[in-house]
Amino acid sequence: MQNVVNRRWLLTRYPEGMPAPDNWVMDTQPVPDPGPGQILVKAKWLSVDPYMRGRMSPASNYAKGVGLGEVMQGGGVGEVVASNHPAWRVGDTAESMSFGWQEWSVLVPDIPGPSGVNRIDPALAPIESSLSWLGMPGLTAYFGLLEVGRPRPGDTVVVSAASGAVGQLVGQIAKLAGSRAVAIAGSDDKLNWCREIGFEGAINYKKAVDLTAAVKEACPARVDIFFDNTAGPIHDAVMRNLNIGARVVICGRVAVADQFGKPDIGERFNGQLIVTRATMHGFLVFDWWHRRNEALQRLANWHRAGQIRFKEDVLDGIERMPEGFLRLLQGKNFGKQIIRIG
Ligand SMILES: NC(=O)c1ccc[n+]([C@@H]2O[C@H](COP(=O)([O-])OP(=O)(O)OC[C@H]3O[C@@H](n4cnc5c(N)ncnc54)[C@H](OP(=O)(O)O)[C@@H]3O)[C@@H](O)[C@H]2O)c1
Repeated sequence: MQNVVNRRWLLTRYPEGMPAPDNWVMDTQPVPDPGPGQILVKAKWLSVDPYMRGRMSPASNYAKGVGLGEVMQGGGVGEVVASNHPAWRVGDTAESMSFGWQEWSVLVPDIPGPSGVNRIDPALAPIESSLSWLGMPGLTAYFGLLEVGRPRPGDTVVVSAASGAVGQLVGQIAKLAGSRAVAIAGSDDKLNWCREIGFEGAINYKKAVDLTAAVKEACPARVDIFFDNTAGPIHDAVMRNLNIGARVVICGRVAVADQFGKPDIGERFNGQLIVTRATMHGFLVFDWWHRRNEALQRLANWHRAGQIRFKEDVLDGIERMPEGFLRLLQGKNFGKQIIRIG
């Protein structure tokens, strides 16, 4: 591509604690050419997600960190503008978690699993849905709740970060399963949205004087499923309210994201786990990738039937990638944070 540049964000410094805008710099490069078996994709939407905090480290957790000077890792969706792959044509819509924080990306469709490339049907839903309810966050809610949490009619399901990308779907899928969902979130506006989409209980963790008491009051029959997106003090308050045979889905730790690599804070609940015979289960959506199509089909059906709704929080311009990511860690996003590139 002559005379066209690729603006991209490079990670230049590993944060200690909370990341800051100067952890990245934007540079410009000529748009790359795709090699054999590769496609060139122009981004239309990019995603920012809490897991990116884990990539801003030389250490690995379940995946390798981004190296200093490398393009920041992240998912995106856009239009194929050149193809050296027999199954992909110019004009197709491609989504991938290997996109990176950049305007143009060379992708390898034949990589299997979560790092590969997915074909998106623009007729099914707006293409940015493939980064939110019809993509990785949707799959996280679907498998985390249905396969690990195993909701039953009448169960009480407590969800932390409930208005976020994963949380708002967990509550709605819990309702579809006949359970009673209780939201924990950080503002009254967010909790009003949670009520609107079907959560029956709501707790503002920033206002509650005694969070354990607030959970007890909102869950008179105690907690059968705890879908934990935050860890930290919210985790402790909900764990004190478990029911016999409860299931605890350990999905994320955004409340301690600035303490990457360190143990979680707070109490240990081994005594409570024995008394309640509860099951606590660490969960990673990528272990369920082989059932991706089945889950997306069901999510699409629910959406078409008006049984799930979804809020997105849109920023415009690749310049705003660091800001968008930091908003997640500061709780400023209201719904799935995505960036419109053009
Ligand atoms: N295990 C997996 O496979 C998997 C896959 C996807 C996501 N996840 C995890 O799921 C969680 C939610 O991800 P998401 O993409 O849906 O993000 P999100 O909920 O859309 O955004 C993050 C939210 O976290 C809340 N938060 C931030 N700091 C907090 C704090 N100190 N205490 C309590 N809440 C805080 C904020 O909402 P409030 O205003 O309510 O505080 C913020 O809006 C994250 O922990 C993420 O890492 C795990």
